[in-house]
Amino acid sequence: MFKLLAFLVTMSYVAGYSVDVCYASQKYPFVSSLQDKFCYSKHNLFKKPSKNNMGKILYWVKDVNNLDEKDIIRLRNDVSKYGAVVIKKQRLTRYQQEAFTAKLGETIILPSSFQGNNSYLGHPAIAAVSNYWQNGSWKGPQHSFGQYWHKDGNYFPYPKNFIFSILYGDEISSFLEGGGTGFIDACLARDYAPQHILKILKDTKIIVKVNFITDFRNGLKEHLERYPTAEHRFIFKHPLNKRECVFLFKVTEEQELFYTQEELRAFDEIWKFMQQELFFYFHKWSQGDILIWDNMAVFHRAMPIIDKGEKRTLYRTMVRINL
Ligand SMILES: [Fe+2]
Repeated sequence: MFKLLAFLVTMSYVAGYSVDVCYASQKYPFVSSLQDKFCYSKHNLFKKPSKNNMGKILYWVKDVNNLDEKDIIRLRNDVSKYGAVVIKKQRLTRYQQEAFTAKLGETIILPSSFQGNNSYLGHPAIAAVSNYWQNGSWKGPQHSFGQYWHKDGNYFPYPKNFIFSILYGDEISSFLEGGGTGFIDACLARDYAPQHILKILKDTKIIVKVNFITDFRNGLKEHLERYPTAEHRFIFKHPLNKRECVFLFKVTEEQELFYTQEELRAFDEIWKFMQQELFFYFHKWSQGDILIWDNMAVFHRAMPIIDKGEKRTLYRTMVRINL
């Protein structure tokens, strides 16, 4: 039996495939000690390992202002397939960004007190993500908005958290240092997640309240109260790309009481596990880029700007995809 297994493993690697040791260990318990080292948690004996395809440039989109219904369906599928996509050389007014966003689904309008100082006058669906104030003065070298791994809309229950975020690079200095947008592929992370973590968090309900969100800490009470507590499964099935993906929320000290010590250790371990080259994409901005990501499929964060006054202005909208 061991010879047969060794033969299968060797042949599968020669063929460019990887054997799923999880599956093998269910059938042949003597290989279970190999599980965490090799287990990619798939349930087929032969399966091509998934790849990280985030940051895919969609050359087929020429102008987002001229997309028909068929193009919009194709675009939605591409965003969910790749997790994060880039459309180059676009030019959008705020009105055009709102119109493009509304074509994709149901525009999300956040309460004004959740926008920090980023709301854009006359356009409640738009957040201005910039190191400059709207009056043209520099904000200075310190900002931290969105500089932690998260999913936008994670305070909505499944599947209402199926939300795309759209960032348009309106003005990007070519001398800008830093200021990129980072991504972790949450579906690929699920494929590779260590078996013992999956086991510990199998039945864990991850609790998210809107007042846990760092960027909403100045939200008005009446705004915060609009959102009931959401509970998420650690592993969930993506409604469009049909893959299993990871949901996680950074637990702060005051939320620790919701979880066992074992669960808290597993959260720490999986956060560390996901922060490796295999799961990363870092987008370096060019003027006219549109970056769209699927918050179910990826985690994202803003990377700090090495801020010497080089201008970077992005405009963000969010849209719920109702299938
Ligand atoms: Fe965000």
